[in-house]
Amino acid sequence: MAERILITGGARRLGLALARAMLAAGHRVAVHTRMTRPPADLGAVVLQGDLDDPSVPARVVGEAHARLGGLSVLVNNAARFEPDRIGTLDAASFDAHMATNLRAPLLAIQAFAAALGEDGTGLAVNIVDQKIRHPGAGYLSYTLSKIALEGAVRTLAAALAPRLRIAAIAPGIVYESTGMKPGRLETLGERLPLRRAVRPEEVAAALTYLIETPSVTGETLFVDSGEALRARSVILGAS
Ligand SMILES: NC(=O)c1ccc[n+]([C@@H]2O[C@H](COP(=O)([O-])OP(=O)(O)OC[C@H]3O[C@@H](n4cnc5c(N)ncnc54)[C@H](OP(=O)(O)O)[C@@H]3O)[C@@H](O)[C@H]2O)c1
Repeated sequence: MAERILITGGARRLGLALARAMLAAGHRVAVHTRMTRPPADLGAVVLQGDLDDPSVPARVVGEAHARLGGLSVLVNNAARFEPDRIGTLDAASFDAHMATNLRAPLLAIQAFAAALGEDGTGLAVNIVDQKIRHPGAGYLSYTLSKIALEGAVRTLAAALAPRLRIAAIAPGIVYESTGMKPGRLETLGERLPLRRAVRPEEVAAALTYLIETPSVTGETLFVDSGEALRARSVILGAS
């Protein structure tokens, strides 16, 4: 069945890969973006907004609903990812990570649930991070925001059943981080239990599984080559 899917942060990297995979599977897709222009030939509805503005998540969900003729899947993929640790933590950075990575997805889910009406059903998927299982000292605000977002999955799954299913996908290393040296992604991948970085299409396969399995809710799928099985200090060679 063709789904109507909204992907936040869907104009580049993982969000774009998810959008392409969902379009290739015959679904109708809206990608939300803040600044990045998606490829002109993507074939998706494009919606714009800064999710740090608390009015934007509901507005984007409403626009996706209107432009797609309904909404059945919400993918909360957009995220802020900036390094900090307890020694450098400041209130502005902490609040910004919570606004983008926790508050915005929750407000989007709230709007999605409201838009479903009495009889509608849907699925919301939060893209989190395998770091939630072995948090290192760096990326403190980011990791805490993702731990909270993952923590919301079971709470919301219980609260919103049977109309809305809630799940999370926790990817491992998929793309280079800013400033990463060429080849570093492959090196890190070789240190993982499964000796490989994660391919974007494998995260898309997890999303497809969640879409196609209506008895699953409240679950987090780790797609991480086993990274969460090991302390990050072992993989990175530092904390
Ligand atoms: N990359 C990895 O290896 C990896 C590993 C584990 C988990 N993840 C998770 O997977 C997801 C995608 O990762 P990625 O590396 O593809 O992300 P990315 O390249 O950093 O892109 C993040 C997206 O979020 C959007 N965004 C950020 N702040 C926003 C805001 N305030 N309002 C609206 N949009 C905002 C950006 O929009 P603009 O470009 O328009 O600014 C961008 O499209 C994230 O949730 C990330 O935590 C990624």
